Amino acid sequence: MEMCIESNAIVIDRRRANEILGILKRCKALRKELKIKHINDSVVIPIYSDDIILKCIDSQGATLNISKHCFEYKYREIIHGIDLRKMLENIVGSRDIGECISSSIDIIGDIALIEVYCRDLLERYREAITEAVIKLNPSVRTIYAKGIVEGMHRVRNIVFIGGEEKTKTIHKEHGILIAVDIAKTYFNPSLSTEHSLVAKELSYARSILDLFTGVGPFALHIAKISNSYIVACDINRDALKLLRESIEMNRLKGYIDILEIDSINFIENRGFIGKFDAIIMNLPHHAYKLICSALEVVKSSGKIYLYIISKNVNEAIDMVNRELYECRAKGVISSYRKVLDYAPRRYIYRIVIENIALHKF
Ligand SMILES: C[S@@+](CC[C@H](N)C(=O)[O-])C[C@H]1O[C@@H](n2cnc3c(N)ncnc32)[C@H](O)[C@@H]1O
Repeated sequence: MEMCIESNAIVIDRRRANEILGILKRCKALRKELKIKHINDSVVIPIYSDDIILKCIDSQGATLNISKHCFEYKYREIIHGIDLRKMLENIVGSRDIGECISSSIDIIGDIALIEVYCRDLLERYREAITEAVIKLNPSVRTIYAKGIVEGMHRVRNIVFIGGEEKTKTIHKEHGILIAVDIAKTYFNPSLSTEHSLVAKELSYARSILDLFTGVGPFALHIAKISNSYIVACDINRDALKLLRESIEMNRLKGYIDILEIDSINFIENRGFIGKFDAIIMNLPHHAYKLICSALEVVKSSGKIYLYIISKNVNEAIDMVNRELYECRAKGVISSYRKVLDYAPRRYIYRIVIENIALHKF
């Protein structure tokens, strides 16, 4: 079925079409991405109609009656290259609204999250934003505006925009089903490549401790591809309940043991000494302070996957090395990777630390 884009338009006699098209082009009023329609002896032309454009048309000596009409895109492929801003501008028929939202959309299952910069416009354009997001992503059912991630559980503040009012969904990542409730748990779909890369790197490991597991994406990715034993810990009961659901939904090779604990206390008190081939610590604000404890808990041949926020990789390495110095340099950095943009000029890095027992100097 062809997509219908509603737009402001003018209907004119076909004999005036060339003259009026010339004026519309000069005033930059013509919506070039939409197909002009011909109905009997009339031509229906899609236009932008802000005040400046209307004044311009007026100054060219044309008085036009504007009405709403439904148009098709001129090129079907334009929909693939079009971003949310452009789509919303098309729907609303104004070029200002695009400035108020992000051009990208985060999709978690059938829920879309977008950034809205002009909150006062949210109420007015709720329906148009919902329509724009669903046109670009037909499988989306629900749309929220994203706020900041905060609190101990690292849950994102959200504001409902439109669609079905729900917060729970099933997200699919590299073929793995992950139950997520965006109102109760942390989840970032931009980490999917990271989850998969770490699982592949650790496919040799038999025992893994995932200290800040959340809804368990690292644990699920690892258990999907390798026959390993994973201890998945978190302080957020809702997140662990969702992880249990995900374990039921996926056919896993490995076994995930779930522990509802304060992982910081737990590791500082050296729970499970020397038992794990690898430890994952994805609590980027705090995890680097746990390096010395983690080195005691990992096997001497083991690895620590640490996530850290910093301005650049050198700063991240310095922060880690300072901690390693504190615990008499029992570990060395063996690799690093820039994972995500976190804030302006702040990034999340993954730093891998190996036990120094492996390295000869
Ligand atoms: C940044 S999220 C990471 C979630 C997951 N690893 C992922 O990649 O989606 C951090 C998680 O740490 C948990 N957390 C924070 N403080 C904790 C603590 N003291 N003990 C255990 N879990 C904690 C939060 O509940 C949250 O689920």
